[in-house]
Amino acid sequence: MESSMIYLDNAASTRVDPRVVEAMLPYFHDYYAVASSEFSHSPGLKAREALDHARNTIARRLKARDEEIVFTSGGTESNNLALKGAAQSFQGKRNHLICSSIEHNSVTHSCKWLESLGFHTTYLSVDQEGFVDLNQLEDSIDENTFLVSIQHGNQEVGTLQNLEAIGKICRSKEVLFHTDASQSFTFLELDLSRLPADLVTLSAHKIHGPRGVGALYVRQGTPIKKQLHGGYSEFDLRPGTENVAGAVGFGKAVELSTSEHVKRIRMMQSRLADGLTHDIDDVVLNGSQDLNKRLPGNINVSFNRIEGESVVLHLDMRQIAVITGSACFSRSLEPSYVMMAMGFSHERAHGSIRFTISRFNTPEEMNRVVETCREIARSLRSISPLHKQGV
Ligand SMILES: Cc1ncc(COP(=O)(O)O)c(C=O)c1O
Repeated sequence: MESSMIYLDNAASTRVDPRVVEAMLPYFHDYYAVASSEFSHSPGLKAREALDHARNTIARRLKARDEEIVFTSGGTESNNLALKGAAQSFQGKRNHLICSSIEHNSVTHSCKWLESLGFHTTYLSVDQEGFVDLNQLEDSIDENTFLVSIQHGNQEVGTLQNLEAIGKICRSKEVLFHTDASQSFTFLELDLSRLPADLVTLSAHKIHGPRGVGALYVRQGTPIKKQLHGGYSEFDLRPGTENVAGAVGFGKAVELSTSEHVKRIRMMQSRLADGLTHDIDDVVLNGSQDLNKRLPGNINVSFNRIEGESVVLHLDMRQIAVITGSACFSRSLEPSYVMMAMGFSHERAHGSIRFTISRFNTPEEMNRVVETCREIARSLRSISPLHKQGV
């Protein structure tokens, strides 16, 4: 990437921290043995120790036990394993699951797959800020429900759900609770010694770790069946030769993430939100209006009377990388399903733009982004037929 580029698509993927790369390198060049050879030779033991060290780093951050962390290939696989693995455990006994209508596709598509096998899903609606209705959740759980899957932070609008309240409801109704924390892990506290969640999805590349590695937290005793076959690794839940270098990178990324980074990101988030909504006419914030109830790096806005696509293309020409809620999420010109579920018009959904900040951004970049957006909005509105008609 060119050094002058301001990258604000960190919810999609982040820059791998150079210290993460450094930590991983020996596991490509020197200690490349298979962890399951630990009892046969010392290189195998070295690989096992590195894998277990990474597992312990992640477990400690969650206040979980080491053996509750199952490494996977990322958030997508973890979500598939959580939903399908739990469903298979309950097959023939209970056949109903619940998720929100704004979950990542790896959750909703897993639900659709399960529906093709005879399960059925309730998709909970959300309000205009993206919050799940807890009364609807409680009313939707019946004697056939085995699992509730509700994400922590939304990938598009950043809205944070109240996991404590959701977990409490699930405990009282004796159903499993899965949360997809791919976007929130390390940015917000997840204390699994207190939070009543049974399954939690994590992904490394959202936190300056490598792509292609993630984990599923599986609380001890949770009924779940593996979805891949061909070995016994990862506590017999995820076969395949362990990705030791990837796990080491994930562990290092967790170790490097601090509350100081979150404070800095929050400060930039607030500056960007203020600048976009106060210094430019007709820009509205999508998602939670309370920034403390959003993912720390997320700002999603709609520029009224301008297509989001046009703003994104003009920003790219001016070295600022962001995405819009239409094409980039669905790879089509359909408006974002998240924005539609929040009850917005096609026009507002099409005008939505997501800016996601990381610790590698700077406050000066936020000022440049606001100024550039203001110039682009002025210029696009001056030629927009919608603007001239006062639509
Ligand atoms: C909320 C959420 N869940 C799951 C995923 C999938 O994660 P991965 O890319 O590690 O498969 C993403 C990635 O965009 C996400 O934002």
